[in-house]
Amino acid sequence: MSEFSTGDGAPPERGYPQVGPGHPQAGGHSSDADVSRETDATRPATGIPVRTAADIAVAAPDFPGTDLGGDHSTPLARAAEHVVLARHGARMRPPLERPGATRVFVVANQKGGVGKTTSTVNVAAALAQLGQRVLVVDLDPQGNASTALGVEHRRGAPSTYDALVDGVPLADVASPSPEVDTLMVVPATIDLAGAEIELVSVVAREGRLRKAIHGHPLVGSAEDVGEDRFDYVLIDCPPSLGLLTLNALVAGNEMMIPIQAEYYALEGLGQLLETVEMVKAHLNPSLDVSTILVTMYDARTRLAAGVADEVREHFGDQVLKTTIPRSVRVSEAPSYGQTVMTYDPGSPGALSYLEAAREIAIKGAPA
Ligand SMILES: Nc1ncnc2c1ncn2[C@@H]1O[C@H](COP(=O)(O)OP(=O)(O)OP(=O)(O)O)[C@@H](O)[C@H]1O
Ligand SMILES: [Mg+2]
Repeated sequence: MSEFSTGDGAPPERGYPQVGPGHPQAGGHSSDADVSRETDATRPATGIPVRTAADIAVAAPDFPGTDLGGDHSTPLARAAEHVVLARHGARMRPPLERPGATRVFVVANQKGGVGKTTSTVNVAAALAQLGQRVLVVDLDPQGNASTALGVEHRRGAPSTYDALVDGVPLADVASPSPEVDTLMVVPATIDLAGAEIELVSVVAREGRLRKAIHGHPLVGSAEDVGEDRFDYVLIDCPPSLGLLTLNALVAGNEMMIPIQAEYYALEGLGQLLETVEMVKAHLNPSLDVSTILVTMYDARTRLAAGVADEVREHFGDQVLKTTIPRSVRVSEAPSYGQTVMTYDPGSPGALSYLEAAREIAIKGAPA
């Protein structure tokens, strides 16, 4: 863990180069048209098994039992098929097996802007489109996840704050997202910004969210809570390691860490992992860093491949094979109060999130 720099000293030397126009920090967003033009010829030859949006479009599975046979031969045809399937939801897909008990994911990385919220809402919507029952808990006072999921989060609206600070049952502050059936959201209002301070004097302050989530009548195993149970709870954390994130780490069984494929991607991760170890040792032994997701991956740059390479070296199987491409459609969706899964279901970003969700579901909960 300590191999990751936690300080803000001199930039470490890395084995991958800064690159020109496609560099994520160069400011230019590549368009989806750019992304879908990616070919193996333009991809850096690192030998790393990274699955990009272009691979996903080419390798999209067939869907038996649908009348969408026809021409599967081109990426375009496959993408079109995904659009239809996404619109018609899980009914047309081979069913994805539900976990035997609710899997509670903490989506955290104290680094800002790495794709925590984007990954939370899109993985959640994708899982719901795949027939799973999903609850998103917005734990960031910015309320970005609530916005993307189209749920009211003006000051005073029932929210995570009420559950955390006043002990209101989570079921009373959750609302359905208009995005996908079977997707519920506990929104965050700006009031949550005060919770970090208000909770300091509260007894068992780091266990409040755990109590709220595990006290929900639909969180638990098939035997205990039945068929209406949530299959997944995803908690979107703020970019800090304060009391809110600590509450999430104590509440979750699994952790998903989004890592942006850019220079300095691993900076600060050491501190996050040290916090996780501390939580495991003292507060929540069952916490498992099960999922690392590389986001904003630009397949045309050696930089992105280098970062993915390094992430995989450190985390091995925890890293999902699917990477999320940098795509303007992904970043546009929240301004329409949508996830990319409904805003543009056939886009490379949506297909990648669908694939990432499928990978998470198929991998299953850690033993
Ligand atoms: N795959 C992507 N392609 C293009 N833009 C993206 C992608 N993923 C995220 N973004 C954009 O990057 C910015 C940061 O993403 P996001 O808000 O998900 O990060 P975050 O880690 O939740 O940030 P914060 O730390 O502030 O909570 C947003 O403007 C988002 O739209
Ligand atoms: Mg966020």
